[in-house]
Amino acid sequence: MINNKTIEKFREIETPFYYYDLDVLRSTLDIVKKESENSGYKVHYAIKANHNPKIMKIISSYGLGADCVSGNEIAAAIIAGFSPSSIVFAGVGKTDKDIEAALKADIYCFNCESIPEIEVINYLAAKQRKVARIALRINPYIDAHTHKYITTGIEESKFGINTWEIEEVIKKISTLKNIRLLGMHFHIGSQITRMSVFKSLFARINELQEWFTTHSINLEIINVGGGLGIDYENPDKNPLFEDYFSMLNEFIDLMPGQTLHMEPGRSIIGQCGSLISRVLFIKNGSNTLFAIIDAGMTDLIRPALYQAHHKIENLTSEGNIYRYDVVGPICESSDTFAKYIELPETRRGDIIAIRSAGAYGEAMASRYNLRDLPPSVFSDEI
Ligand code: LLP
Repeated sequence: MINNKTIEKFREIETPFYYYDLDVLRSTLDIVKKESENSGYKVHYAIKANHNPKIMKIISSYGLGADCVSGNEIAAAIIAGFSPSSIVFAGVGKTDKDIEAALKADIYCFNCESIPEIEVINYLAAKQRKVARIALRINPYIDAHTHKYITTGIEESKFGINTWEIEEVIKKISTLKNIRLLGMHFHIGSQITRMSVFKSLFARINELQEWFTTHSINLEIINVGGGLGIDYENPDKNPLFEDYFSMLNEFIDLMPGQTLHMEPGRSIIGQCGSLISRVLFIKNGSNTLFAIIDAGMTDLIRPALYQAHHKIENLTSEGNIYRYDVVGPICESSDTFAKYIELPETRRGDIIAIRSAGAYGEAMASRYNLRDLPPSVFSDEI
């Protein structure tokens, strides 16, 4: 809920901007911290969801690790207070420069996706006289039942190592002196809301564990990746962390001495952020009322790219309900936030909140049309 006092403050601020409610972030982090302490699971926040320095600093202060996908993310995570020994590094196309930086920083683990990648890491680690710790990202062939652009664990996806390749990869690793295999890694997609999907993944992980046991290979870690979804329809609802942790407790069979790791992004940061915008014009189409707002797909690309649904609220009107298409100012028809949604009568100057935009919102903003990047405003600053 964005309260009236906050709405009054919004009236004084130039739009569009991202608003972060830090009480919401902190209460999410309290749950994650409690659950991870109780279970002993290690949580690495997926920096890609939101790399705002203040956000990263708050998250690192809760003792979480980081999941990074570039050398720049690793550097930013360290500056924000994440310990290098808690950083995992993912990505299907890691550059030599990024691998070298990660080795230099002595990160915890590279999540590796192919033999050529492991060979390059071995070569670059040897040059630095180091042994790189790695986990194998395995493609478990589980359909995440989410948008096709953010589904990553099905056959013929560019991600992960196929199960039929595992034996060959293990053989290869045994010849590489500067590689140490820590465990298995998975990530089957994002915005997963069906708990049955995770149940299938965990069952598959248990099966794969058996393969390693029969080959007398001890794995220290199992990393289940990220993917836990949020309820975009109900922005004020808590994320599903408690359900997720209890699913893990119930369905994953860890071997003695094994640690479970995870990489949530959206579920940590999604619900605390809103994109705040002003209505520029109301325009009549033949059958449609368009509310043209000053935020566009450059500020929040998710609706244009994934047809994503974000709840939209008019914070400054209590008029009769009408239906509007809420659109941005950019010269592309995909610059549409929502079609035919109910809003109280909306006028020029009204303040609009696009909710649940904390994850993959600010982080994916661009300067297309030479627009300014949206600034961030925090609840403890206004
Ligand atoms: N681990 C790996 C290896 C990943 O690729 C991702 C996200 C995560 C963890 C974090 O996943 P999360 O818990 O946030 O679902 N831009 C898209 C989402 C892309 C997700 C990419 N990978 C969106 O706006 O929906």
